[in-house]
Amino acid sequence: MSLVEGGIPTPPEKVIFKIKRFDPEKQEFYWKEYEIETFRGMTVLDALLKIKEEQDSSLAFRYSCRMGVCGSCGMVINGMPRLACQTQVGAIATEGNPVVTVEPLYNYPPIRDLFTDFTSFFEKHKSVKPYLIRKDPQETETGDAEFAMTPEEYEDIYQFSLCISCGVCYAACPVAAMDPLYLGPQALAYAWRYVSDVRDEGYEERLKIIDTEHGCHRCHFAASCSAVCPKVVDPAMAIQKLRSTLYKKKLGAWKKKTSKKVGPYHYEGPSRAKKVPQLTEALLPGVDLEAKIKEPVNIDIELK
Ligand code: SF4
Ligand code: SF4
Ligand code: FES
Repeated sequence: MSLVEGGIPTPPEKVIFKIKRFDPEKQEFYWKEYEIETFRGMTVLDALLKIKEEQDSSLAFRYSCRMGVCGSCGMVINGMPRLACQTQVGAIATEGNPVVTVEPLYNYPPIRDLFTDFTSFFEKHKSVKPYLIRKDPQETETGDAEFAMTPEEYEDIYQFSLCISCGVCYAACPVAAMDPLYLGPQALAYAWRYVSDVRDEGYEERLKIIDTEHGCHRCHFAASCSAVCPKVVDPAMAIQKLRSTLYKKKLGAWKKKTSKKVGPYHYEGPSRAKKVPQLTEALLPGVDLEAKIKEPVNIDIELK
């Protein structure tokens, strides 16, 4: 790592980016190099944008938030799947080796350059029913009561609810590389997030979906998914919990924790209206507030 000032690594002045690109017409991968001037705090995403703006507008990659939230910018950087917007150039390029390699995420079909096809990833995500299921849908629609969780019960799901579906874990998974039908760490972590939620009643159907040859039994527990997850979700742990839940359930030794229905729902907190300062003459001395409120608003627009 290069010199670190104020916690932000400073990259070498010039860095060579070796980018593995994909030509959709020829259906071929090829490598292309770009040398760029860096700045302190530059991320790999900043570098790609600079290359696109200044050297090669044809370079294709996906991004949106630039702050590790949307999960769009996953790519393999110096051999490791990560988010480009969270990876500092100065943390991976050194004065002795000012080179960064960037490849499309492994285990996804390429579309163009660093742009990969997430269709099957999101189908797997959807297949585990990643939402709360209640047996009586009316109670979710009427909203007349709440389903209470204790802080400990919330703590159980919190870590797994941080997933941003970036797919970085899936690119690190050796089983996903061998079995394209494997549900994968992201979908399984989501399955656990809802199975372990005390408010959920859909765990029976969800557990059936993951109890297959392409489900949680396929996992080797190498935990490379957890090692690369930018949100510290730990999908490998979620899969272990799913597997032990399945075995305990088959032995009749698992009982689903449920939440208490608290209601009818009635908000008893302070009125929000009281928090809004009222306009008084003391706040605006000399202003006739009554007249101001009645006065029509005139906006002059100059048409050209
Ligand atoms: S578990 Fe982590 S690496 Fe996998 S999709 Fe979710 S946030 Fe990304
Ligand atoms: S722990 Fe399981 S899901 Fe995670 S990388 Fe290893 S095989 Fe894949
Ligand atoms: S651009 Fe949104 S996570 Fe990187």
